[in-house]
Amino acid sequence: TRSPVITIDGPTASGKGTVAHRVAKHLGFHYLDSGALYRLTALMAGRQGIALDDEAAIAVMARTLPCRFVHGHVFLEEADVTDAVRAEEVGVAASRIAVLPAVRQALVDLQVAFRNKPGLVADGRDMGTVIFPDASLKVFLTASAEARASRRYKQLIEKGISANMENLVKDLMERDARDSARATAPLKPAPDAIILDTSELTAEEAVSKVLVWYAQTQ
Ligand code: C5P
Repeated sequence: TRSPVITIDGPTASGKGTVAHRVAKHLGFHYLDSGALYRLTALMAGRQGIALDDEAAIAVMARTLPCRFVHGHVFLEEADVTDAVRAEEVGVAASRIAVLPAVRQALVDLQVAFRNKPGLVADGRDMGTVIFPDASLKVFLTASAEARASRRYKQLIEKGISANMENLVKDLMERDARDSARATAPLKPAPDAIILDTSELTAEEAVSKVLVWYAQTQ
C-alpha cells in the first residue's frame, strides 16, 4: 500500500505553508511545498532569460529542475535560494507560469516522488484535486483577504524584506484571480476536502484541527 498523504490547499497566504509544515513535523511525515517548485521554475526562467510565456522552453527546464530541499533550505544548482524564492515578484512570476499546462505536467513526477514512508503532507493549490487525488485527508484553507495580506506583510517584514500593504492586497487579489480562473488545475477545493477558515484561528489551532481529522481517518 502507498504511504498516506495529507493535502493542504488554499489561496496565497492562507497559512497553508505554516500549517502543513507543522503537521508534517508532528507526524514525522515528509513535507512538499509545491509552490516552491513553481517559484524555482520562475526564478530559473528569469535567470536564463526565458520569457514567462514561452511554455515549451519553460516546460523543458522544469522537467529537469536542478533543485534540492535540505533541512528547510532550497537550493537551485549550488545556490541557496531559500530567501530569493519567497520574494513577492517571484510569487507573481510563479503564478504566471503556473497557468501553462505543459509546465504543470512537467512538474508532476517531481511532486509525486515526495510520497515516501511514513507519509507526506503536501501544500499547494491542486494537491487534493490533481496530484494526490487518493489522499487520506484533504484540507482546504481559506482566510479573508485582509487576514492574508497582513500575514504576508508580517512574514516579509520579519525577513527584512520591505513591503507595502496596499500593493500586497493588490498582488494577492490578482494572484488569486489568476489561480482560480485558469483552465488547468484551478484553485478550488476537492469535492471531498474539509474547508477550514483560518481568519480567526492561530496556526496552532489550525494544526490541532488537522491532526484530529487525520486521527479520525486512521
Ligand atoms: O504557494 P505559493 O504562493 O508559494 O505559490 C506560488 C504560485 O505557484 C501560486 O500563486 C500558484 O500560481 C502556483 N502554484 C500552483 N500550484 C501549486 C502550488 C503553487 O499553481 N500546487
